[in-house]
Amino acid sequence: MRFFLDTANVDEIRKANDMGVISGVTTNPSLIAKEGRDYAQTLKEITTIVDGPISGEVKATTEKAEDMIREGEEIYALDPQHMVVKIPMTAEGLKAIKALSEKGIPTNCTLIFTPAQALLAARAGATYVSPFLGRLDDISTVGMDLVATIREMFDNYGDIETQIIAASVRNPLHVVDCALSGADIATVPYKVLEQMLHHPLTDSGIEKFKQDYVKVFGE
Ligand code: E4P
Repeated sequence: MRFFLDTANVDEIRKANDMGVISGVTTNPSLIAKEGRDYAQTLKEITTIVDGPISGEVKATTEKAEDMIREGEEIYALDPQHMVVKIPMTAEGLKAIKALSEKGIPTNCTLIFTPAQALLAARAGATYVSPFLGRLDDISTVGMDLVATIREMFDNYGDIETQIIAASVRNPLHVVDCALSGADIATVPYKVLEQMLHHPLTDSGIEKFKQDYVKVFGE
């Protein structure tokens, strides 16, 4: 399983990229709005930091397929080597995914909450589907079951190449379960990446090594 960073904050993206563990970034309208910066410029800057797929979503106000296609082409044109067009799971969204994929533009179908939605997105030609675990957990439905079911379903058909991005990841346990459930990618907020790094025994172990070393060898 690979890691994407789920944020539009360029400082976090730089720090995570420097760790050498992320191979892409996902954003959404809420995450970019939180940064208070220009939408397209933010995406463009992210493409200069991470050399991998960068998901940029069509505007939250866009509902018609033809508008999503036009916007998708603009997003893709920001950096054709890296940009992936994120499209919400609607009938119009599926039409847009189909049209963009026929033009060779990669897409990420977002807001997936059922296996059936994931199958539709795959058949429309989505490069990625994004099942939202945390938001399902929030309404007392086991989000991880969705990832496992999509994995099993996609594996039944050799012609489905759509990759599963486990999204709405809220903690390190989610990450481990994503890997066990066969997600291709987990997109994680920076906070979760930091939580994954630490363990109290690692921290106290480092401190003890330091003290023992200094006692004998000095600073
Ligand atoms: C990523 O593609 C999603 O937009 C994101 O993971 C949603 O996460 P949230 O449910 O924590 O907002």
